[in-house]
Formats: sequence, C-alpha cells, structure tokens
Amino acid sequence: MFTKEELMEIVAKRVENCTACPLYLTRTNVVVGEGNLDTRIVFVGEGPGEEEDKTGRPFVGRAGMLLTELLQETGFRREDVYICNVVKCRPPNNRTPTSEERLACKHFLLAQLEIINPDVIVALGATALSFFIEGKNVSITKVRGTPIDWLGGIKVVPTFHPSYLLRNRSKELRKTVLEDFKKAKSFIKEV
Ligand code: URA
Repeated sequence: MFTKEELMEIVAKRVENCTACPLYLTRTNVVVGEGNLDTRIVFVGEGPGEEEDKTGRPFVGRAGMLLTELLQETGFRREDVYICNVVKCRPPNNRTPTSEERLACKHFLLAQLEIINPDVIVALGATALSFFIEGKNVSITKVRGTPIDWLGGIKVVPTFHPSYLLRNRSKELRKTVLEDFKKAKSFIKEV
C-alpha cells in the first residue's frame, strides 16, 4: 500500500520528466501543485505564470496573493487546501494552453484528483472549467457559481480566475468569487 504522499511523489517525478508537449522546452521548473493531500477541497487554475515557473510553486505571483487572501476570507488556510493547475509547465508569455498541451497534461491532474479524492473542486477560470466539461462550449460568466456533478459524487464549482479579478478591479466581482468559494466550502462533507 502506498501513502498519498508516496503516490503524489510518483506523479511529481513523472511530471518532472515529462516531454509530452513543447512546453517542456521553455519551462524553468514544473509546477505540480501543493497543499494538504487530506483536504476535502482542491483549487484548480490554468497553468504556471512567471513566478510559478521560477519557484516551482502554484499561485505565488500576484494572482496567487489574491487567491491566498480569498481563501483566508472563506475561512481556509492556504496550507489546508490543495492548489494545482490544468497544465504543469508555463505557456510562454502566459498564453492560454493549447488543447494539445492540455490533453498531454490531462492524466496528471486526473491522477492528482484520484489521490486526493476531494468532495469539491473549485475550477478557477475558463481553462479549468473546460477540463471538467470536456467538449462543451459554455461561458464561465454564465455558469460560475453553479455546481457541476463530476464523476458521480464530486462537485465542481466554477468561478472567475483571480487574474481576471486583478484585471477588473471591481468590488462586486471580488464579492462574487468569495460567494462562490463559500458555496464550494458548503459542499464539504462533514465526517
Ligand atoms: N495562474 C494560474 O492559473 N496558476 C498559477 O499557478 C498561477 C497563476
């Protein structure tokens, strides 16, 4: 029997050695994810940015600071949840990862979610949302805050990406995301 830590270490090693898409050519570090493997809630972003690529840690730049703030306001400590991304290597100039890049990386996120087996996943932005609703063309603005049943039992709550909040400094938007985080928290099953 492997522990969750051992299983995640195997995933991390495989990510580090991955050359399945061209993003490996330009990465400084892979960004696997971090946090508590026993958490009931996982936050999924799009892909590493500049700071994340430099440090190998998810959400440590400006968007990350905002995410950490929002987590605290929801009543979480950053270290109690798990944070990761759809793709594990930085797309050059922070462009949106292509469908080929997402497909090449897909099995890593699936493995991570299988290991953690959370009650709820918060999909941060359109790229994360599209991971969970494969093939369907829905707008994040329309579906944010509406939970999706994923793989029979896991709730996925889509909301805006923190970078979007940084670009549109509106108090209303921030409040909306905070409400979505709180809704997601309400899906955590009490044991
Ligand atoms: N944006 C993301 O989607 N992920 C990160 O890790 C950082 C910024």
